[in-house]
Amino acid sequence: STPFFLDCDTGIDDAMAIGWLVASPGVDLVGVSTVSGNLDAAGGARNTLDLLALLGRPDVPVSVGAHDFLDHPYSGGAPHVHGPNGIGGVDLPRAAAGPTGRSGAEAIVAAARAHPGDLHLLAIGPFTNLALALDLEPRLPELLGPVTVMGGAAAAPGNVSALAEANVANDPLAAHRVFTAGFDLTMVGLDVTMRHVFEESHRTALLAAGTPGTVAVARMLEFYFAFYAERFGRPCAVLHDPLAAAVATGDVTPALAPRVPVVVDHTDGPGRGQTIADLRDLYQGFPHSHPGGTRVLLEVPGDFAGDLLARLST
Ligand code: BDR
Ligand code: CA
Repeated sequence: STPFFLDCDTGIDDAMAIGWLVASPGVDLVGVSTVSGNLDAAGGARNTLDLLALLGRPDVPVSVGAHDFLDHPYSGGAPHVHGPNGIGGVDLPRAAAGPTGRSGAEAIVAAARAHPGDLHLLAIGPFTNLALALDLEPRLPELLGPVTVMGGAAAAPGNVSALAEANVANDPLAAHRVFTAGFDLTMVGLDVTMRHVFEESHRTALLAAGTPGTVAVARMLEFYFAFYAERFGRPCAVLHDPLAAAVATGDVTPALAPRVPVVVDHTDGPGRGQTIADLRDLYQGFPHSHPGGTRVLLEVPGDFAGDLLARLST
């Protein structure tokens, strides 16, 4: 099995990504770190511990990562999207275990050193912990295996500003450091996540599957669906973090994913938080292979929502 480490801000779609990882054969989830984003890092760790216990994995160590971002403080999360407690107001049974005494960055570095060259890292919150881990261990890009991130928008609009996606927008400086550090990096951004949608029929089927995990996630989704209903005109939700999880586990194969340089605007102008992906070659018909660049997903075919329902229901 493949060792995986998850960095997250749990969060309703983060909860679905955790469900995907736990249900995936061949995935050995060796640790989780949390970061402020959808809610504060400590609350995200509480949600993660409770959910992991519900899913039968109370043994996975969870570390509370960065509360504040690299160059500015955390200022309140997204309760209008993910609910006051980050998981749609659902009260999960309290897990017996508490978080480790390690910081998120320390946990990432320790896991990378324990599995040199092998550890898959999936980051589905702001990238503060990963940037801090680079400070602690500058050899992290060589120590880690593939790194998959949910974040950014290469050729699509943003979701918190015209150009910026939330995970990148929360800590643009951290994102810039991560995108330019030399990781074997895959970006699962809004270009693809906005196109995979969980419908009310999927949610009902999840509820009917009747396990503690499927019922809890289906209840969380009621809140998430209400947020998207205002945008899409029907109750549904786009699948940001679980799609990134499925890319990381190799279960989803993109139809278009050029490897190109990506930098992040971390100035204070209107482009703050934009992922600037150099797609010129792609659009001008030249070969677009930049070894060392980021693999930027632009098209993911197939019925991912159906695959997700099936995986979570097993
Ligand atoms: C990302 O922001 C968070 O709200 C979600 O959990 C996801 O990771 C989408 O922009
Ligand atoms: Ca997230």
